Amino acid sequence: MREWAIAGEQIAGDPGVVMVIGAADSGKTTLTTFLANVCHSRGVGTAIVDADVGQSDIGPPGTIGLGLVEAPIERMNDTVFAGAYFVGSTTPGSHFHYMVAGTAKMVDKARRIGARAIFVDTTGLVQGGFGRHLKQSKFDALRPAYVVGIQRGDEIEHILGPFERCGASKIVRVPSSPRARPRSRDERRLFRERAFQRHLSPVTLAEIAFGRVALLRTLLGSGRALDPRGIAEVAALLGAEVSHAELLPRALYVVGKWEEAPGARRLAEALGREEIHLVSENAFQNLLVGLLDTAGEFVAEGVIAGIDFQARRMTIASSLAQAEMEAIRAVVFGAMKVATDGREMGRISPGDI
Ligand SMILES: Nc1ncnc2c1ncn2[C@@H]1O[C@H](COP(=O)(O)OP(=O)(O)O)[C@@H](O)[C@H]1O
Ligand SMILES: [Mg+2]
Repeated sequence: MREWAIAGEQIAGDPGVVMVIGAADSGKTTLTTFLANVCHSRGVGTAIVDADVGQSDIGPPGTIGLGLVEAPIERMNDTVFAGAYFVGSTTPGSHFHYMVAGTAKMVDKARRIGARAIFVDTTGLVQGGFGRHLKQSKFDALRPAYVVGIQRGDEIEHILGPFERCGASKIVRVPSSPRARPRSRDERRLFRERAFQRHLSPVTLAEIAFGRVALLRTLLGSGRALDPRGIAEVAALLGAEVSHAELLPRALYVVGKWEEAPGARRLAEALGREEIHLVSENAFQNLLVGLLDTAGEFVAEGVIAGIDFQARRMTIASSLAQAEMEAIRAVVFGAMKVATDGREMGRISPGDI
């Protein structure tokens, strides 16, 4: 399309960070691929940050991936993988602060690698207040040289208009292709499940000792663990089987074996703690986790296959063998559950674990 070609020449002539926004299925990924090819063909170092955590092409679902364009690409996942940030959810929902942090981190990494045209392909969430806040926070974090808006009608003007009036970024409007094809919910889910499956295979079980790694985005491991006597006391006050308990500044964190959480009033009174967090062992089963190395860089996704609280060990199913797992330094807890064949098994809210 003529407008796409003009946009490509404009960006290649004066490259910078380009934020691509548009509704779901408007053609953002197709457009990003096209624009990246134009920049690459003009000799500009080009990278793509895939910030669409649901329909991700670079890196596994639930991550923000970075790919370098080192040859003409037909599809976005023809880029050379250069890193990812674990968001832990395939929908922005309660995780949108991590999406913004991850997008900024990957753009920064692209810059450090030397890319000059850095395209950020965003999620199709453009409706309502939530869409506006998400785009605004990414815009603020990235300070893009360009915002390329792709639309059928004027559905993203409520976002583009205010950005344009800020004056700091060039706003480029291009039409959506009439050949852009909508995908059903089922098609999207299937796409994600296949991608999860691909990234988790060959599914290998490996163990990680809690004491050796950082557990992130969970209360687990953040407080002072109670000894067996303390645990027995908590169990008696709860009237339930308790596997693990930790004291935090204002809270008590308790993991136990129950289907329905027991009443915690007696426990709260006896310990004088304002907050009692009761977590069922089941809550951890199949939780999606991100595995990071000593530099804090994403290595792989995994799912929790089991936790042995007595031995202080967890078993993780991922593509990493035991020897590779030994090099993992942090386990980041996600907000969704996934089976090892890629099937999605529901979501949890941050704060639940
Ligand atoms: N210009 C185009 N020519 C042909 N097919 C297109 C074009 N733009 C989009 N499509 C098709 O429409 C669908 C949605 O496009 P995509 O770029 O994935 O959208 P988005 O990233 O906004 O969700 C895809 O199947 C894609 O191949
Ligand atoms: Mg896309």
